[in-house]
Formats: sequence, C-alpha cells, structure tokens
Amino acid sequence: MATPFDIAGKAILVTGAGRGLGRAIVLEAVLGGADVAAVDIDEALLREVIAASGEHSGHILPVVGDVTDRNTLMSAAAGLAHKCGGVDAVISNAALIQYQPIHLVTQETLDRMLGIGITAAVWGVQALLEYRRPSGASLIHMTSPVAERGVPGTSVYAMTKAAVASLTRTLAAELGPQGIRVNALAPGSIPTPGAMGLTSPAEYARRIAAIPLRRLGTEREVALAALYLLSDAASFINGEVIHIDGGIMAAL
Ligand SMILES: NC(=O)c1ccc[n+]([C@@H]2O[C@H](COP(=O)([O-])OP(=O)(O)OC[C@H]3O[C@@H](n4cnc5c(N)ncnc54)[C@H](O)[C@@H]3O)[C@@H](O)[C@H]2O)c1
Repeated sequence: MATPFDIAGKAILVTGAGRGLGRAIVLEAVLGGADVAAVDIDEALLREVIAASGEHSGHILPVVGDVTDRNTLMSAAAGLAHKCGGVDAVISNAALIQYQPIHLVTQETLDRMLGIGITAAVWGVQALLEYRRPSGASLIHMTSPVAERGVPGTSVYAMTKAAVASLTRTLAAELGPQGIRVNALAPGSIPTPGAMGLTSPAEYARRIAAIPLRRLGTEREVALAALYLLSDAASFINGEVIHIDGGIMAAL
C-alpha cells in the first residue's frame, strides 16, 4: 500500500526506530521514498527493521546508540546529512514506557526516564539545527493523552510527555521564524511491544469500550500522521498536538 503523503527525497531521523511506532514510521517513510537515520539502543531490533524494509533497505542508515548521549543524535544527523545533503526532520520517538506508583520511583528510574523522555528531545532539536537544510525543516515529538489527564501510576512518564508538549509549543514560536515547524503526536492505546508490556488484555478491553471508535489504533495510523506532519500538506501546521486516539480525549 503506497503512502498517501509526499515525502519522497526527504531525510528523516527517527529515534526509538527498532520497534513499535518508530519502526512503523521508518518503514512507511522509506516506502514513501524518504531516507531515514534509524536510531535505537538495540542493534538486533534495527537489523530486523532493515530486513523488513526489503528493497528499500538502502534508504535506512542504522545508528546504534543511546539517545541520552548527545553524540548519538549528532553523529546520526551528521551521517544522514552526509548521505542526503542535509536533514529535513527529526522525530524524537524513543521512550522508556514504565508505570509505577510514585512511592516506588527510584533515583535511577527517574534519571533514566527523564533522560530518554526529555533530555534526548533537546539533543534531537540541536541535531536538526546543526544539520538541517536551509529551505525548511520539521520536528515531531511524541506526547500522550496521559500528559493531559490524571492517570494513576503514570506520574514520571506523564511528566516527560507534558514536558515535550511544552517544548513543542515553545519551539514552534522560537524556531518558526527560521522555517522550522514543530509539532507533536499524542497516540492513545496503540498495542506496541512497549505498551503491551504494561497493559493487560482486560485493560485493553476496558479501553476499547471507552474509545468512541470502539477499537485500538494501529502503528501505521500513527506513522501516517507523522508523515502528514512532515509533508507539504501540513505546511501551515505548527505548534500542534495531534491526538490519534479514536476520540477518547474528546469523549472523556
Ligand atoms: N504505544 C502507545 O499507545 C503510545 C501512546 C502514547 C505515546 N506513545 C509514545 O510513542 C513513542 C513510541 O512508543 P512505542 O509504544 O512504540 O514504544 P516501544 O517501547 O515499543 O519502543 C520504544 C523504542 O525505543 C527504543 N529505546 C528505548 N530507550 C532508548 C534509548 N535510550 N536510546 C535509543 N533507543 C531507545 C527501544 O529499544 C524501542 O525500540 C514513545 O515516545 C511513547 O511514549 C506511545
């Protein structure tokens, strides 16, 4: 199935590209004729993404590294710019999705989740600024409905998602004059490997009953929203959070 948005020739850096939503974005982007720097901490996952991309594998530049290290993002962007002449977009997608009651949160968990969820987003922005094409560029952050509603047990994760939503609005204003659009996606209830590890079948059944469209979302539906934001079809969209949640945030 061809991708419906024109992203041919774009150079896109995607973090957390090894599985789930990041993987779906990479596969959809190369199908649409883009080149992608696919960053993940897990080398085996990246190898599988390249295998899954088939004839498009030459358009994926795998980068194994930890997004909390600024050098990972800088060298991935440098490699992509070397290959394509510049970087058009960075999608800061990597996360450590972990829920726990607040009294169990340790220093180690807090540092790790804030590092992957917030610090890495800042490095992603800086990597784009360093290697972007002068003609215009785009940033996408991944937030979540839990950043806007109180969901017990999600405190640290929700904090990171609220932080990147805030970063999105600030940078839309700060970088807009340079032709850089900054937006966020807020997926809800997409059964990725990371999300399924936290959600029981019974919980998913409860959620489906509350979602106006009465189903879970798919990884591809999120990937298509990302490609829309990167394409010229979204050329006046800046500072937005797009919910891909079957209407749950509208209905609550
Ligand atoms: N799945 C959902 O329902 C949902 C809902 C709202 C928001 N989100 C957000 O969407 C994004 C993707 O979520 P997902 O469900 O695909 O997650 P996932 O856990 O399935 O995948 C995350 C990927 O990030 C990689 N990663 C983790 N730490 C890393 C690090 N330090 N350096 C490099 N790579 C690292 C992992 O190896 C993995 O490949 C996340 O930002 C998540 O918070 C997901």
